[in-house]
Amino acid sequence: MLSAADNVRLTQTGPGTPMGRTFRKYWMPALLSRELPNPDCPPVRLKLLGEDFVAFRDTLGKVGIVEPRCPHRGANLFFGRNEACGLRCIYHGWKFDRHGNCVDIPNATPEVAARLMPRASIEALTVEECGDIVWAHFGDSPPPLPDFEYLSVPPEQRFVSKKLQQCNWAQAVEGGLDTAHFSYLHAGIYKGEKASLLDAGKRPTAKGENEPPNQARLRWLIEDGAPRFTVLDHDAGLLLCAARTADFEQTYWRMTQYLLPNHSLTPGNFPEDTSLMNTWVPYDDESCWIFCYAWHPDREISDLARERYLKGNGLFAEVDDKFIPVRRRENDYLVDRDMQQSVNYTGIGNISEQDQAVADSQGVIADRTQELLVQTDLGITRFRATILNACEAVECGNQPKGASNPAAYRVRSGDYVSQPTESLADVVTERFGDRCGQNIVYP
Ligand code: FES
Ligand SMILES: [Fe+2]
Repeated sequence: MLSAADNVRLTQTGPGTPMGRTFRKYWMPALLSRELPNPDCPPVRLKLLGEDFVAFRDTLGKVGIVEPRCPHRGANLFFGRNEACGLRCIYHGWKFDRHGNCVDIPNATPEVAARLMPRASIEALTVEECGDIVWAHFGDSPPPLPDFEYLSVPPEQRFVSKKLQQCNWAQAVEGGLDTAHFSYLHAGIYKGEKASLLDAGKRPTAKGENEPPNQARLRWLIEDGAPRFTVLDHDAGLLLCAARTADFEQTYWRMTQYLLPNHSLTPGNFPEDTSLMNTWVPYDDESCWIFCYAWHPDREISDLARERYLKGNGLFAEVDDKFIPVRRRENDYLVDRDMQQSVNYTGIGNISEQDQAVADSQGVIADRTQELLVQTDLGITRFRATILNACEAVECGNQPKGASNPAAYRVRSGDYVSQPTESLADVVTERFGDRCGQNIVYP
């Protein structure tokens, strides 16, 4: 539970707000590289943390993200002509490069133009393109990008996309960190009872020696709906460890990374599996873009997997050509009440859309003053405390945690099955080679 004041502080990221100032200390994914496919291609409208921008790829292939208002008389540069390393306003031809410098004022004498030009520059974000993503920073000389593993692998070994979430960023992040919900929200149904996701609408597969390991894990998720959480602090965020009862007195651990300010590496993977990560980027305070990444440190993402992700699978939603989910607030996520009785717990297809629906259903901005929290919400309360502390650091004139420490983002998340005698410290060290899943040496 939060006070009303802290809820406002947590959720508002516009210019001048405490959380807005905090977010502006970190690199943000701004758009997918493929949204600007070629040099001099059409510019793209962009909203980031409540501020409007226009993004364009110039003749040299470099991306600029600039304020959309032309300083002459305010025409919108989204309609600008992308030509010869700059965006030219269509009204009277003033031209701006990707750094926001005004480079041509054709409707004035050369003397007047030369005098006006220095005053006519527009705001431009610092931009880096990496990992098929265009990253933006509001500072002039930011530190290097966070050292995420998916940025370190060759393009064949990763897949990235994005989807719109129609609620405030913070409750959407909380959905990613609240891994207890898998036992309900993502459950299947068989004969009116909760069943493993794989058994949705079908007769559950028999337990026992021939049960494939991935089926057993999904069964444990359903059998134990009250995982015990332990949260470990590290210098880019938190490692959230959820313990469920498995077979033969073993424990099934699902370990999630929260990385400041708005990233999470999902649990649900063993070392042989594909890794998954999300970044929740506020569009404004009432919606956010969720950037989704899948990668494997040493093998390619197959064409089949890419095709599945494009159609909506796991944390990738089925989206239209503007990355708007097909199942969304306006159509009640195409909930199917018959399916809810006989196939899955929600009646909503696909994990991503189930997460999306339930986060939106908490309200456009969730009211955290009226909650009744339990032990499985420990990760949520620690997330709030961590980001509000970062906010306080910024208020005091300091750098927030992680913002100038790219190496702290060399982390992994994942699953593990431990024996009854193993401590959490041993589990984490055994799984990741580090006490918090950091300091990962990339192949
Ligand atoms: S308003 Fe842009 S050039 Fe006049
Ligand atoms: Fe989920």
